[in-house]
Amino acid sequence: MLKQKTCNPAPRGLRFSHAVCVIFPREARQPVTDSYSSLLTLYCISNLEPLKKETRTMKKVASPSIDIIYFSWTGNTKAVVEVIAAELRPRTQVRVLEVRPKRRYPYFVWLLLSFIPGLGTDIGPVDVTSPLVILAIPKWTVNCPPITTLLRKGIFKGRMIFPVITYGGFDEKRYAENYRRRIERVAWGTGRMLLVRRSWIRKGDFVSVREWAAALPLGWFPSGVERT
Ligand SMILES: Cc1cc2nc3c(=O)[nH]c(=O)nc-3n(C[C@H](O)[C@H](O)[C@H](O)COP(=O)(O)O)c2cc1C
Repeated sequence: MLKQKTCNPAPRGLRFSHAVCVIFPREARQPVTDSYSSLLTLYCISNLEPLKKETRTMKKVASPSIDIIYFSWTGNTKAVVEVIAAELRPRTQVRVLEVRPKRRYPYFVWLLLSFIPGLGTDIGPVDVTSPLVILAIPKWTVNCPPITTLLRKGIFKGRMIFPVITYGGFDEKRYAENYRRRIERVAWGTGRMLLVRRSWIRKGDFVSVREWAAALPLGWFPSGVERT
């Protein structure tokens, strides 16, 4: 059994709605990320009231599958997705779906829009079938409008999301944590995140991508949330 414990809800005055500790069994171990542990610490030192606990359980299934959903404007994220899909296909059933914006803006328009937090843009249909989803996106200033729209569609409810972000080389960690929080608001939870620098992709250096894909806990599906 795979368990994810959550202290919830956050007390008054705290910006975080969740402090999460993820516990994986030996065969599907993922590190407890720095963000999780720092959120938990922040939560605990800020809160004098007793914590309410949430325990999230995952169950093992016989025929694992995973959906990979990606948006890629200049091809870097797509290249990473192709490597991940090739790594996973011998182990599981993989569906790859692309997010396509309906409008084709030039660079300077996307750049402008990427400065506006929470702004979306029309996208084509995207359906999700697996409880496990890899969501691969580029780092765009503070906002990637096609992904903002995607997260509002309600298709990630009850699903475990593994975020992948490709970036040029500026401010990627803050962006990644911001997106992790945004994804957690609309999904069952998030797993280990992968950040890939554009220069590694251009050099064809996919070592960290393959390692990340090889460590994914395939076959462990979200099964419930217990509150105590
Ligand atoms: C509109 C826009 C904004 C960007 N902003 C950033 C940024 O703030 N920081 C950064 O490291 N890279 C930034 N980049 C570079 C992309 O994150 C990087 O090239 C990424 O790999 C692109 O993925 P793609 O080829 O799949 O579209 C930006 C690119 C675009 C088009």
